[in-house]
Amino acid sequence: MKKSVAIVFGGQSSEHEVSLQSARNVVNAIDRNHCYLTLIGIDKQGHWLRFDERDYLQNADDPAHIKLSESGRLLSLIPGTKGPQFVEVDTGLEAPRIDVVFPLIHGSSGEDGSLQGLLRLLDIPCVGPDVLGSAVCMDKDVTKRLLRDAGIAVAPFAVLHRGESVDFVSVSAQLGLPLFVKPASQGSSVGVSKVTDEASYAAALKLAFDYDNKVLLEQGIVGREVECAVLGNHEPQVSVCGEVVANDEFYAYDTKYLNDGQARIAIPAELPPDLADEVREVALRAYRVLGCAGLSRVDFFVTEAREIIINEVNTLPGFTSISMYPKLWQASGLSYPQLIDRLIVLALERAEEMRGLKTEVVL
Ligand SMILES: Nc1ncnc2c1ncn2[C@@H]1O[C@H](COP(=O)(O)OP(=O)(O)O)[C@@H](O)[C@H]1O
Ligand SMILES: [Mg+2]
Repeated sequence: MKKSVAIVFGGQSSEHEVSLQSARNVVNAIDRNHCYLTLIGIDKQGHWLRFDERDYLQNADDPAHIKLSESGRLLSLIPGTKGPQFVEVDTGLEAPRIDVVFPLIHGSSGEDGSLQGLLRLLDIPCVGPDVLGSAVCMDKDVTKRLLRDAGIAVAPFAVLHRGESVDFVSVSAQLGLPLFVKPASQGSSVGVSKVTDEASYAAALKLAFDYDNKVLLEQGIVGREVECAVLGNHEPQVSVCGEVVANDEFYAYDTKYLNDGQARIAIPAELPPDLADEVREVALRAYRVLGCAGLSRVDFFVTEAREIIINEVNTLPGFTSISMYPKLWQASGLSYPQLIDRLIVLALERAEEMRGLKTEVVL
């Protein structure tokens, strides 16, 4: 039977535009023999808007200027009923009942568990990790602590909460130079700086605290940036490894999304096969430790000395057809439309399983 799938995209994060590109690619590729679509765009003010497929984006071909169209109809959400889940505010029209949401909101509020929690209250299955896995992976401090506890290597780091400080001399003695300063919960390299001296340290802290109340100071790792795609629930599979070869100081926002001449993606990564297998194995372990389900992309540094260090885990990675996550699956034998299908099936399976769990004490 055809499934009713809602694509939710946009959002209030700095990755709004990337999300629109991901949505466009998914809408174009999704198999209409298996599903029909409802399009829900969240604008930069946070309104949930329903769009018709023929008019949901402006400047769709221009990554720098892509935006939601003006034609969205404001939605109201109704949790806790078996009736309508979404109603158009102005007309009272009910949106079709949704079997599963495919969230394509990158960064905070889409990837941090809050959307997942809202969908759970609405009793709608959701592609990707659930509340806990999403929240854990959004916070680089929590992610690293859990990985470290599981014996998985991460870059040595320190954490500053707003109001705390540590002077440059002691932090550079502890972590060495260069070091990286980053907000705990951002993505797309927003607020990330490479620090080499005292002046750049002060500027880096100021920038990172503009984006978050918690900031990570990390030892700079000299290594190749290798990424793996993981897919599945209890028996996840892992793709081949890919490598991001940045020509810049580091893999910065404009490199990722605007100025694609600056970074090269190599799939598969040019690693010795046994080392690549080790990386893939660590990706699977991290996926389990962090409570991921559905999908996640695990990002590593691999050093000259063959150390395998996890940098971060993205639970809703970029999903444009040229993004790393789908490309890794393509190289592993799963096409973009097949991948979308698979993710929807995994979300439905997980929801089915959750529904089967006992929720009350039977006397
Ligand atoms: N500890 C580190 N050592 C070396 N490079 C780093 C380190 N942390 C971040 N970088 C560089 O900065 C980029 C962005 O940092 P990352 O933590 O991945 O942030 P985001 O979540 O925004 O992608 C990385 O892809 C890498 O190039
Ligand atoms: Mg990253």
